[in-house]
Amino acid sequence: MGLTVTPFDPADRPTLDAAYRIAEAARTVDEPDLPPTCRRRFEALLRHPMPGIEGRWVVARLDGAPVGWLRLHLHTLENTDNASVELVVHPAHRRRGIGRALHEHGVRLLRESGGKRLVGSTAAALPGEEGREFPGAAFAAAMGAKAANVDVRRRLDVTALGRHRLAALSADARTAATGYRTVHWRDHVPDGYASDVAHLEGRLLLDAPMGELEWEQQKMDAQRKRAVERALDARGVRRYNTGAVHEASGRLVGWSQLSLDASSTEHAWQQITIVDPGHRGHRLGLLCKAANLAYALGHEPALRTVDTWNAAANAHMIAINEQLGFRLAAGSVDWQLTI
Ligand SMILES: CC(C)(COP(=O)(O)OP(=O)(O)OC[C@H]1O[C@@H](n2cnc3c(N)ncnc32)[C@H](O)[C@@H]1OP(=O)(O)O)[C@@H](O)C(=O)NCCC(=O)NCCS
Repeated sequence: MGLTVTPFDPADRPTLDAAYRIAEAARTVDEPDLPPTCRRRFEALLRHPMPGIEGRWVVARLDGAPVGWLRLHLHTLENTDNASVELVVHPAHRRRGIGRALHEHGVRLLRESGGKRLVGSTAAALPGEEGREFPGAAFAAAMGAKAANVDVRRRLDVTALGRHRLAALSADARTAATGYRTVHWRDHVPDGYASDVAHLEGRLLLDAPMGELEWEQQKMDAQRKRAVERALDARGVRRYNTGAVHEASGRLVGWSQLSLDASSTEHAWQQITIVDPGHRGHRLGLLCKAANLAYALGHEPALRTVDTWNAAANAHMIAINEQLGFRLAAGSVDWQLTI
């Protein structure tokens, strides 16, 4: 029978189970310090994609048994020329052309949908790790993709940070933030701030360095924001948010979000932090991030580790993260292939 690559039917439980096991087997060799893949999130990506995403999943089978998979996210609202790709081959079956077969299938799907570019991320070397093997990066280069943006993952050991230091950092930032107050919310942004938060999220890419990636900003509004929240609810993701409100205008002008997967109480992801350009220079970024971490810890007493990604060129955000105690954990590259 040999190697086959076929569409993935979400109702096919055994294949879904196998795909999840492949993802986990890969994580333990490729990025062993990351927490286990959340099963609920994995399934929800298939059943409840984000608004503006059309998913295509295919599975590679060797003599009938799943050995790898590819997930293509076609973008329907913006970035309609682009598809985000994730491609995983079980470590026991690598270097036999399975990755290449999945990739070729993905390129075919992209062509059929009229797309022009594949974009995907892989782990990569940090300074000092030059000798280490990064199969994903070697593979992406072999497929002809170009390294378009360099990211760095930083990790915070929450136990080393200490509540006192966190409180002191927040207090420091507060003294520079006269005329602003903080507000907190969990999973769903209060109605009164939904448009402001959508506006901030929509303009994120204007500020975050993207290197050579050809990527448009999201057309985000309050309605789409609610749809994003529903998709995150389906994944069981617990969110903690802190906003900075400009007291004179009542507008929310700064925002930071941290999230925990349904499967985790010890590990969190530091997500977006953004301050409106008209309100920069008041330490609102540090204020939102530090106050939000304290807010999350109040509800998540087991939390020990937080991971975050930044573009290597994002000096301002990195400075804030370093102040909080985030330290280098892994390199990452965004690859772009124009077909
Ligand atoms: C990247 C990955 C999908 C490759 O799967 P694979 O089945 O081993 O890939 P292939 O056998 O088709 O390799 C195709 C070519 O890529 C290159 N390549 C793949 N792995 C490599 C490695 N470890 N070192 C150097 N080159 C490598 C080679 O040029 C190879 O051709 P060759 O074997 O004829 O020399 C697999 O290692 C994996 O799942 N990694 C973790 C997830 C990941 O990083 N995915 C990538 C992008 S989203």
